[in-house]
Amino acid sequence: IESLLTVKDMVDEHVLVTAGPTREPFDPVRFITNYSSGKMGYAVATMARRRGATVTLVSGPVQLPIPAGVFHVSVSSAREMRDAVMAALPEATVVIKAAAVADYRPAVRQDQKIKKKNEDLTVKLERNPDIIHEIGAKKEDRILVGFAMESEHLVEHAIGKMVAKNMDFIVANDVTKEGAGFQGDTNIITILDRDGEMQELPLMDKMEAAGVILDKVREIRERRRS
Ligand code: CTP
Ligand code: CA
Repeated sequence: IESLLTVKDMVDEHVLVTAGPTREPFDPVRFITNYSSGKMGYAVATMARRRGATVTLVSGPVQLPIPAGVFHVSVSSAREMRDAVMAALPEATVVIKAAAVADYRPAVRQDQKIKKKNEDLTVKLERNPDIIHEIGAKKEDRILVGFAMESEHLVEHAIGKMVAKNMDFIVANDVTKEGAGFQGDTNIITILDRDGEMQELPLMDKMEAAGVILDKVREIRERRRS
């Protein structure tokens, strides 16, 4: 019923959304990850579909139902996410990178379970590919949206990332604030764009926040057309 009541203002868009954490294994039973729940990305995918967009959702491991009507690709590591995103990119007119991609992975994945032999254990990590940076380098006419979760200097850090990665706008949130961040159903977001506009939004439901993010996508699309 919600879908019937939503204005279909995104029928011309193919929105590629990434969501959730990635898992970086160091042996067959252990991995490094983060607390991302995937809720923000899933909310964006759900709302974009309701607004009539074609939606591809590339998701790390999460405990959420797949939104109705979206193309869903399930991945685990950052490198798998990169490959799935690059495969879907040619079709996409909008890319929204809500995933919390692990910046590092164990340099070696042991074939056998690591046994506890010594008093300490060092696991060497190496950098993962920066997926959104790679998209930014071949953005063409796409609208590229990134996220930034920060614990300090929110605006400066977010603007730095937006410019470095060639995003059209960035959705920043301060993890130290009550009601923001990975696990809950709410978020407190600040949207920053390339024209220096800043929209500081109050605490809202992640579905509602997703709506505001998609309104911003629409605004940028209209601005480009005129
Ligand atoms: N991102 C990505 N690939 C990575 C790391 C991040 O695509 N390997 C994307 C995220 O999905 C997000 C944006 O980059 O949209 C910003 O992520 P964030 O972790 O805040 O920034 P980093 O550039 O990784 O910087 P740092 O973690 O050092 O703050
Ligand atoms: Ca990071």
